[in-house]
Amino acid sequence: MDHVCSTNAIGMDQYDQDQSDHVISSMERKEINNKIIEGPYLVWEDITAVAPNLMRNNNKARKLLNNLSGYAQPNRIMALMGPSGSGKSTLLDAFAGRLSPNIKMTGNVLVKGKKGSGNCGGISYLTQEDVFLGTLTVRETITYSAHLRVSNKLSKEEINVLVEKTIAQMGLEHCADNKIGNWHLRGISGGEKKRLSISLEILTQPHIMLLDEPTTGLDSASAFFVVWALRNIAHDGRIVVCSIHQPSGYLFDLFDDLFLLSGGEAVYFGEAKLAVKFFADAGFPCPTRANPTDHFLRCVNSDFDNVTAALFLRSKNSISGTTMSRSVANLTTKDIKAILIQKYKNSEYATLTIEKIRQINSTEEVIILLNESKASWFKQLCTLTDRSFVNMTRDVGYYWLRMVFYLAVAVCTGSIYFEIGTSNMAIIARAKCQAFVYGFMICLSNGGLPSFIEEIRVYNRERFKKHYGADVIMISNFLSSFPFLVVTALSTGTIIYEMVKFRPGFSHYSYFVLNLFCCLSVIESCMMLVAFLVPNVLMGIGIGTSLIVFMMMPSEIFRLISDLPKFFWRYPMSYVSFASWALEGVYKNDMIGLEFDPLVPGDPKLKGEIILQTIFAIPLDHSKWWDLTALLCLLIFHRLTFLLALKYKESISLHSKLYVYSAFTQISKRFSSLKQQFNVSKRNQPLYSLSSQLGLRSPMRP
Ligand SMILES: Nc1ncnc2c1ncn2[C@@H]1O[C@H](COP(=O)(O)OP(=O)(O)OP(=O)(O)O)[C@@H](O)[C@H]1O
Ligand SMILES: [Mg+2]
Repeated sequence: MDHVCSTNAIGMDQYDQDQSDHVISSMERKEINNKIIEGPYLVWEDITAVAPNLMRNNNKARKLLNNLSGYAQPNRIMALMGPSGSGKSTLLDAFAGRLSPNIKMTGNVLVKGKKGSGNCGGISYLTQEDVFLGTLTVRETITYSAHLRVSNKLSKEEINVLVEKTIAQMGLEHCADNKIGNWHLRGISGGEKKRLSISLEILTQPHIMLLDEPTTGLDSASAFFVVWALRNIAHDGRIVVCSIHQPSGYLFDLFDDLFLLSGGEAVYFGEAKLAVKFFADAGFPCPTRANPTDHFLRCVNSDFDNVTAALFLRSKNSISGTTMSRSVANLTTKDIKAILIQKYKNSEYATLTIEKIRQINSTEEVIILLNESKASWFKQLCTLTDRSFVNMTRDVGYYWLRMVFYLAVAVCTGSIYFEIGTSNMAIIARAKCQAFVYGFMICLSNGGLPSFIEEIRVYNRERFKKHYGADVIMISNFLSSFPFLVVTALSTGTIIYEMVKFRPGFSHYSYFVLNLFCCLSVIESCMMLVAFLVPNVLMGIGIGTSLIVFMMMPSEIFRLISDLPKFFWRYPMSYVSFASWALEGVYKNDMIGLEFDPLVPGDPKLKGEIILQTIFAIPLDHSKWWDLTALLCLLIFHRLTFLLALKYKESISLHSKLYVYSAFTQISKRFSSLKQQFNVSKRNQPLYSLSSQLGLRSPMRP
């Protein structure tokens, strides 16, 4: 708390000084407003975004954004304001190329500037949700992110200096060594998480920063501090655009420009300081002593017109009547909004905006900002492997909890089948024991799904921002999980093998452990794939468990392979099932060369090979090593599938498939009416979407 006060005090002094600078610079800016400032611009022209209306009783497609045009200049910070649902996030998504696949957009979003000019760092987009590995501390999170992204030329010490500077910039020193927190660990506060998210964005000093509600969850002092830091970044030659809710008067003064939206329509675009004048000129002056932003939002938020009307009827001292001017109180907000939108369309602000865009378009070229990480592939691999390993070590839910269960099951199995021997009854008991061990080990693998999903969400966020490639994720994930899988297979396998006294001999013991390890690795890869494709933990556990059971079905656990229905279950499922290969391998490992007591005393001993063929219907045409090789092939196959899924997530995401499917069925019914209302012609397609210029792609769009 002391810390917040002191930093704020410093911030306010600096702020006052900045304000005097700001007055001068705003006068100067008027002069240079007609000139082109050096450095790339962000320009958007005639942006319209339409979503099909899925409500059955309404055929109209919904316009989320309507013909928006504007530009963001370097050295300036822009506030994107509007009531909830006015389209702020949608517009930022459009800038970053992250619109949902069901939304159709027309218009252009471009970065314009002199080729090779300016400080072209790239673009960063801070979304509303904060995604981190909860087991890491604030400092560790920023440090790993820095190692993944900054150039190899920077030494470790230089990176540490950069990290400390970023921590100080966002006022996170007091919690730098605190864990972030997850489902089982109480960590830093929501506001601190938000500041951490911003820290990760400013680390590499991108040229364009898009931030969706960076101050949500922050107290007013912290919000001021954060926006002040963003303003300093902007005034360092960068473009900062952030959506913001209810800023205080102090906070609003920090913004250079304002884009006010309501219901997807532009209400005001221009200098933030001139917005009050615009409202006054339009006939809705801001009451004295009122916060201008409160007034703006009250004027354009028509969501509560019905409630206000009801309150007005009930009480003469209505909310509107007491706090708003008479002219405002006599109109519904819907009317006020419509007047303001019309006034803006006909105003000199709109004309100047169009003129400025035309000027930028005629003098500047389309440029491409590269977002790619500057760290080498090998450094990324080492950093990601290290980070993943640290996370696995600290997260009890990742492996430790399962290991405890595995060990408990191993001891229980060992005691139930203790020193099983080679009696005639032991033939079936041995097979049952192995089937039980594998069945249980396989089923427990989905226990790690919540942790897998948490990690995958971080991968997704960072992959979207091009911090590293899919191959780095796949390999690092395998390498970091490798020691845990080895320890699990070794400890569980040794306990069971020693207690049950399976086939004696080191090579047989090694095969048992190796087989267990390969089987666990295949399921882990399979679960990683599931974690990647599902939208949440609940679906992950459901789908993961079903998949596991499905894969166990065509194995010796339930029925002899030879008895399986030929269609589907035997061909191809028994060949695809890892449980089938794993069990076949361990059966051979245990029984070939072993002799069992006959059913009738005095008869010759029963050979393991004969038992395998007659009782378990396992052909001996290939050795147990081929079974192990098949498991290894399945492991490679699953890892490669995981890699492909990471690369082409957009087209196979289960979530988006389900969504698009439901949307498609609705849309197809109204295709003709939709076509009439909104005809997306080839001519109106964006020439270059910002996303393609930046190398960004929508997570939902191929
Ligand atoms: N993919 C989508 N499909 C259909 N409608 C959508 C979609 N995304 C957003 N919308 C709708 O578009 C409108 C604008 O949403 P958006 O999230 O941009 O609002 P916002 O201004 O960011 O609101 P908030 O301040 O609450 O974050 C909302 O009414 C929302 O329901
Ligand atoms: Mg939003």
